[in-house]
Amino acid sequence: MKKMLRREFLESSSMAFAGTTALVAGFEPIVEAVTVRRRVSPNERINVALVGCGDMGKTNLRDFLRIPEVECPAIADVDEERLEEGLRIVQETRGNTPEGYRDFRRIMDREDIDAVIVATPDHWHALPTIYACQTGKDVYVEKPLATTIEEGRAMVAAARRYGRIVQVGTQQRSAGHFRDAVTFVRSGKLGRIRMVRAWTYLDWKGDIGNPPDGDPPPHVDYDLWLGPAQKRPFNPMRFHHNFRWFWDYSGGLMTDWGAHMVDVVMWALDEDPVGAMAIGGKYGFPDDIRETPDTQQSIVEYPSFTVLWEHMIGCGIGPWQREHGVEFHGENGILVVDRGGWEVHSETDRFRQPERVLRMTPTPRQAGSSDYHFTHVQNFIDCMASRQRPVADVEIGHRSAIACHLANIAVRLRRYFRWDGAGEQIIGDAEGQALVGRTYRPPWVLPKV
Ligand SMILES: NC(=O)c1ccc[n+]([C@@H]2O[C@H](COP(=O)([O-])OP(=O)(O)OC[C@H]3O[C@@H](n4cnc5c(N)ncnc54)[C@H](O)[C@@H]3O)[C@@H](O)[C@H]2O)c1
Repeated sequence: MKKMLRREFLESSSMAFAGTTALVAGFEPIVEAVTVRRRVSPNERINVALVGCGDMGKTNLRDFLRIPEVECPAIADVDEERLEEGLRIVQETRGNTPEGYRDFRRIMDREDIDAVIVATPDHWHALPTIYACQTGKDVYVEKPLATTIEEGRAMVAAARRYGRIVQVGTQQRSAGHFRDAVTFVRSGKLGRIRMVRAWTYLDWKGDIGNPPDGDPPPHVDYDLWLGPAQKRPFNPMRFHHNFRWFWDYSGGLMTDWGAHMVDVVMWALDEDPVGAMAIGGKYGFPDDIRETPDTQQSIVEYPSFTVLWEHMIGCGIGPWQREHGVEFHGENGILVVDRGGWEVHSETDRFRQPERVLRMTPTPRQAGSSDYHFTHVQNFIDCMASRQRPVADVEIGHRSAIACHLANIAVRLRRYFRWDGAGEQIIGDAEGQALVGRTYRPPWVLPKV
C-alpha cells in the first residue's frame, strides 16, 4: 500500500505548480455543471472525504466513522506521512483503503463524494470549502471559518448560491450544557447584560523557539501547503500545528480559541459588533518566532454590551480560576460557562438597601456534557439528509469569526475603529479596511461567488 501511495503522491507532485493554473482555470466549467447533486437520504451510504489529516482532521475522521452510514473513500494531505496516518485510520476501523491524494482538487473532481471535511490550517479553509460547494458537496469546515472576513463572506455566499450544507467546527453549539447556559442567559433572569468576558489562558503552550529556515521535508509539498499565502522559505515552527501563531496562516489565540468562546457570546446575545479596540504583544516569549500576541486584551463593542477578551499563552489561570470560559455579567447575576459546566452567581445591591443583598438565587455548578464533538458531527450528517441549516451554519461561524478578526485588526493597528456590519466595512480607516481581505499568491484566486 505504502508503495502505491508513494507513487500516486509523487505523480501528482510532479504536476507540481506548473499545472496549477490550468487546474484552477479548468475548475469553473466542472463547477457550473455539477451544482445540483442528489440529496442524501438517511438510508444511503454517505461518502465523506477528508482534506487535511492533521490533529483535528484525524479527530474529525474518527467521529465521522462512528456513524455507520459514513464511508471515507478519499483523503488529501500535502504531507505524505500525515496522509498515510489518515488512510490507516480508515483501514483499521473499516477495513478498506481510501484513495490518497496530495492535491485536494482531485477530491473535488469526484462525483461520488457527498461531503468534505476541511481540517487544513486556517489559510486553507476558504478555497476547499468554496470548491466543494461549487462541485455540489456539503462541507464540515474547521473553525475559525477563515483567515479574513472577506474569505468568510465568500464562503457564506458559496454555500447559499450552490445550496450546500456547511457546518463550522464550533462544537460547543452541540453541547447540552452550553445550550442550557445560553437558554438561561436568554431567559432574562440575569437582568440586562452590559458586559461579557471571554478568555483563554493556556499553560500547555509556551515558547516555540526560533529555529532557522531550512528545507521542507521530502514527503511534504510545501508550495501547496503555502497555497494562497505568500511564498517564504520553510520553517519547522511555521508549519504543522504552530501555523496558528502567524498572520499569513491564522490569527493566534484570538481566532483559535476566540472562535469557540466568542461564538457562545453571539449565540446567547445575537448582536453584531459595531467597533473594536485591542492591546497585546509578545510579552511572555519576546524572542520566539511567533508573530501573534502571546498576551492580548481586546474590547469588541456591540450595540448594548461590550465583550472583553483576554488571553495569555504560558499561564493557565484566567478569570474564575478557569483556563477558558465566558462570563455573562448581568445586573442581577453572572453566568459563567466553560467546557466543564456552568453556574450562576448573584450580583449584589447596596444602592437601595443599607445592607448588601443578593439580587437573585444562585445556580450551583451544572456538569458539562460529554461527547459533544460527535453530536456536532451527527448534526451535520442529519442536516445533509434534511437540508435544514446545521447548528453551526456557515453564516453563524462567519458572524462569530468577524468579532475575532476585528479584534486582531485592532491589535495590529493598535487603535479603535467602528465597524459597519451591514456593509462589512471598517468605517473611515483604509489601513484597517485593507486587513478585512488579503492578497492571494497567484495563481490562487478567491472566487467571486
Ligand atoms: N474544533 C476544534 O476544537 C479544533 C481543535 C484543533 C484544531 N482545530 C482547527 O483545525 C484546523 C487544523 O488544525 P490542526 O491543529 O489539526 O493543524 P495541523 O497542522 O496538525 O494539521 C493540518 C493538516 O492540513 C494539511 N494541509 C495543509 N495544507 C493542505 C492542503 N492544501 N491540502 C490538504 N492538506 C493540507 C497539513 O499537511 C496538516 O496535515 C485548524 O483550522 C484549527 O483551528 C479545531
